[in-house]
Amino acid sequence: MGEQLHSDRAPSAELLRPSNLLRIGRETVIKSGLLIPGNEPNQIEVLRELEPVVEGELNRHNRARKPWVPADYMPIDQESGLILHRVTDPEETPLLSPEAQSAMIVNLLTEDNLPSYHRVIANNFGLDGPWGTWTNQWTAEEDNHAYAIRSFLDLTRAFDPAKNEAMRMEQMKQGYMIEKDPLHTLAYVTFQELATRVSHRQTGIAAHNDIADKMLQRIALDENFHMLFYRNLAGAALDVAPNQMMQAIRDEVLSFQMPGANIENFQVRALQIANAGIYDLRRHLEEVVVPVLRKWKIFERDDITGYGALARDELDAFLTKLDVDAKRFEDKRDSGQVSRAIAALQRHRGL
Ligand SMILES: [Fe+2]
Ligand SMILES: [Fe+2]
Repeated sequence: MGEQLHSDRAPSAELLRPSNLLRIGRETVIKSGLLIPGNEPNQIEVLRELEPVVEGELNRHNRARKPWVPADYMPIDQESGLILHRVTDPEETPLLSPEAQSAMIVNLLTEDNLPSYHRVIANNFGLDGPWGTWTNQWTAEEDNHAYAIRSFLDLTRAFDPAKNEAMRMEQMKQGYMIEKDPLHTLAYVTFQELATRVSHRQTGIAAHNDIADKMLQRIALDENFHMLFYRNLAGAALDVAPNQMMQAIRDEVLSFQMPGANIENFQVRALQIANAGIYDLRRHLEEVVVPVLRKWKIFERDDITGYGALARDELDAFLTKLDVDAKRFEDKRDSGQVSRAIAALQRHRGL
């Protein structure tokens, strides 16, 4: 293994593709010399080198982020204690539009799988030192998100609580497994946190309800803080191991999927969400992918070479394709084709 650790061989792009990585976390990387490319430090060394950055980022995060109390964001009148916006007949007068409801449910079920995310992140970054401190605190912060959203839905009866609970059980029983190494995880969570931020924020706007909007704004702010942490860590990883990190970024942009893709009727819900402009390819490209790549100065760096440069070219080509796909979707949306597809899917599935 010692020889492989210092091999000049680039890591096999095929091996590094997320679909081919079988449970590659910290432990596996240690055992796998195959993941160690050329003259860059291996991933465990990168994680160790980043420890002071984690500490600095954690301190910055704690200075910037003010704690919040979910009870302050509930639909409850502070003086009388009465529940506000309580729905008596959801069929006749629903609180939320079908799109806003779908978005809130998808966001909630995604948040629900937090124990799985904690396991994945702890497995990748380890639970000792500053990485572990961050992971536990991040988990504690995330834990308020599902609690707040579910409380809002349960109190207002905007969504049937029994149905909501059944969906939560189903989602958590499936759990969430992701097969990535630490650098791929770092790239993924940067995009994922930002995507979640955009999604919560736009759902708040689409809800047309002041209380839901304020609550989702606050959650979105948390997601932004998380994104900043991971984005800065990934930026530091680019400095330490530019080619490996470049490869990870290429893989994660090309294969990006929200963790909620296994939710019941996800296809219809995702189409509804995209049709309403809450989260669609255009937002994904212009509000998530491009701003992060710009911050990392991906296309300006001169330290990316060899297989890293190849990965960057592939990423560049993919961005052009994403733009074409986004335009195509917008045309379909404008012509009403997406609405018709949603209606057909709903009829087909008896929704
Ligand atoms: Fe969250
Ligand atoms: Fe988050």
